[in-house]
Amino acid sequence: MKKWDIAVIPGDGIGIEVTPEAIRVLDTIADIHGGISFQYKEYPWSCQYYLEHGVMMPEDGLQQLEQSDAVFLGAVGDPKLVPDHVSLWGLLVNIRRGFEQVINVRPAKQMSGIDSPLVDPKGFDFTVVRENSEGEYSEVGGRIHSGEDETVIQSAIFTRRGVTRTMDYAFELAKTRRGHVTSATKSNGLVHSMPFWDEVFQDISKNYNSIETQSIHIDALSAYLVSKPHAFDVIVASNLFGDILTDIGAAIMGSIGIAPAANINLNGKYPSMFEPVHGSAPDIVGKGIANPIGQIWTAKMMLDHLGEQEMGTLLLDSIEEVIEKGIKTPDIGGTSSTTEVTDHILNTLTLRA
Ligand code: NAD
Ligand code: IPM
Ligand code: MN
Repeated sequence: MKKWDIAVIPGDGIGIEVTPEAIRVLDTIADIHGGISFQYKEYPWSCQYYLEHGVMMPEDGLQQLEQSDAVFLGAVGDPKLVPDHVSLWGLLVNIRRGFEQVINVRPAKQMSGIDSPLVDPKGFDFTVVRENSEGEYSEVGGRIHSGEDETVIQSAIFTRRGVTRTMDYAFELAKTRRGHVTSATKSNGLVHSMPFWDEVFQDISKNYNSIETQSIHIDALSAYLVSKPHAFDVIVASNLFGDILTDIGAAIMGSIGIAPAANINLNGKYPSMFEPVHGSAPDIVGKGIANPIGQIWTAKMMLDHLGEQEMGTLLLDSIEEVIEKGIKTPDIGGTSSTTEVTDHILNTLTLRA
């Protein structure tokens, strides 16, 4: 029996509602498989924890998580209690960086049974490979003047190592898909970082002769994701551009409540972390209507990462079947509750197994 140790951080808001749902799913998967089990260790790190301890996670927090096979996180943020940059950098970004989770993989595809806001989504299916450790997300900068000249500088940092490994990941992924990589750039407006980004993209494309490439400015690319998302296969983007593109990807799927994500540690030194694209959704917390599919699909990405692809495929097929039957939370046009959707996924899993 293979036992997977999973560190679970439900976090804040609907993170606390959807994480247990995904755990019910993982336990059912383990029963169906028969040869694997999950052992969970839950950590209460959150904005509530911050109010009690003055920190989002303890000083030795990363050490506590380090021995696990994966980290499974809900969502972080409760801006009424703690400023977002404090809570997110204190927990989510801290783990991404501390565990060198340098790549963020975020698939988006048309789901039958969910009305996309697009009139004709044409079966779009793309994955954004987002640089996850540097770029526009940087602590370099600060307030340099006060008074009338009040000025703030926020620097972006791009290293050849960081950009190269992100692009390599995107090209390798494209080899397993439709063989096309689009680079999100903005070298017409940003005079240092993006020309460098383009240069690395050019260099790396030379190593992948079988892959078709194109480079599109982020403003135009954002528009294309709305007007012709089916034209894209793998998109490689900087930290901030990837963040924004993946909310667009979620929106054209029909809801941010269904979009999954994986923060990947490439060198095997530390665990990877799995958390959906959405946040803590304070506007719907406590109503029992949070869509659990983002978190459950994220569990599928964790299964794939752990080498349990067959179970991952079974899970995504079951999610799709439940959506097609119309068992949906209100964000995607249904009337079902969070737990009802999960219950149907559990039944479908069992019937399909
Ligand atoms: P959000 O994703 O929490 O919510 C945006 C909108 O999507 C809201 O209307 C919300 O109700 C809806 N939504 C999100 N998830 C849903 C779900 N599962 N089912 C149904 N509807 C859902 O983004 P926001 O409002 O910008 O941020 C709220 C908080 O979450 C902030 O503190 C923010 O910093 C944080 N945040 C955290 C993460 C993370 O932990 N990974 C990601 C994004 C935002
Ligand atoms: C995400 C979130 C985070 C990010 C925030 C909350 C720091 O929006 O995971 O998409 O920008 O990476
Ligand atoms: Mn985001």
